[in-house]
Amino acid sequence: MKTFARKKLFGSIIAATLFFVAPTASATATVEVYKSPTCGCCDKWVDHMRDNGFTVITKDVGNKEIRQKSGISDSLGSCHTALVNGYAIEGHVPADDIKRFLRERPRAVGLSVPDMPHGTPGMEGARSDPYNVLMIKNPGDSRRDAVIYNRYDPHAPKQANTASEQGGSMMRLK
Ligand code: CU
Ligand code: CU
Repeated sequence: MKTFARKKLFGSIIAATLFFVAPTASATATVEVYKSPTCGCCDKWVDHMRDNGFTVITKDVGNKEIRQKSGISDSLGSCHTALVNGYAIEGHVPADDIKRFLRERPRAVGLSVPDMPHGTPGMEGARSDPYNVLMIKNPGDSRRDAVIYNRYDPHAPKQANTASEQGGSMMRLK
């Protein structure tokens, strides 16, 4: 009985430790951002990532080469490519989605917000368009192969936060 109680206490200490350690680990992850030295919206996205607790290293060498090397097809391309914990992040992906992705650690290449939709982090302005955060499962997958990881719609009455909340909708916007 005594051993059982001790085991139970030990178990809950481990659980509590994991609970507090896991989110911190992703928030302090180091992100390597490949971008053009003259890209203003890239700098704004870097600021967004730093504001959300990430350590960011910038490489002002463009992102075409690293995007291809990471297995991200041109159809999923954007203005910058970031590497974090073995994943590739393409374009203006919100920090919250990256944190969830790093917690879940799925078998995937990474995340992408293709092109540069208005209203994404780093692309704020007068206009806000709906956009999807896409998960790239396999290297070289096209935009059509990608899975919707999260969807943002500023015009919707209530924002869906997870793919399951969208009722498995396969609708895809630019
Ligand atoms: Cu951009
Ligand atoms: Cu950029």
